[in-house]
Amino acid sequence: MLVYRSHSALSAHTVDAELANILRAARAKNSALDITGALLLYDDWFAQVLEGPEKAVLALFERIKSDSRHNSIEVMEQRPAPARAFARWAMAHVGEHGDPDIPLMASGDKLVPAAAWKPTGEQELLLAQLRQATRGYGRGS
Ligand SMILES: Cc1cc2nc3c(=O)[nH]c(=O)nc-3n(C[C@H](O)[C@H](O)[C@H](O)COP(=O)(O)O)c2cc1C
Repeated sequence: MLVYRSHSALSAHTVDAELANILRAARAKNSALDITGALLLYDDWFAQVLEGPEKAVLALFERIKSDSRHNSIEVMEQRPAPARAFARWAMAHVGEHGDPDIPLMASGDKLVPAAAWKPTGEQELLLAQLRQATRGYGRGS
């Protein structure tokens, strides 16, 4: 499991469309790579959890690191995890208030809406970590 944060290089005009592009690509590719996780964009900061086979996660992270849509990438946590927190999410989009707002489930090579969702303890911890990683940085105070 790998958690990082990075500084978004997206302009205010294109941020919604670009985020949708990122999530679309991530969901398609992650399902094929057996990778799951969650992505939060708050203010100008991304925070993301990537889960799955170590080699696949590290290879994907190398690709993500070279993406010009963000910079100042900083790994917050990297450790073997006994189980996935976001096993049903190819890539959850975490809304501003911290909850995944589009619960989607990878089902074979398709994504289907998940049933009513309540975060587990492990998910709460990771969501809190993502929120904290994106709050209060880069504002010069
Ligand atoms: C913040 C951020 C998170 C991303 N997360 C993922 C991800 O989880 N999975 C993924 O495949 N691509 C992700 N991407 C996009 C990749 O950097 C890359 O553009 C995409 O995988 C397409 O790669 P390709 O053009 O080499 O096929 C992310 C990009 C950014 C900026």
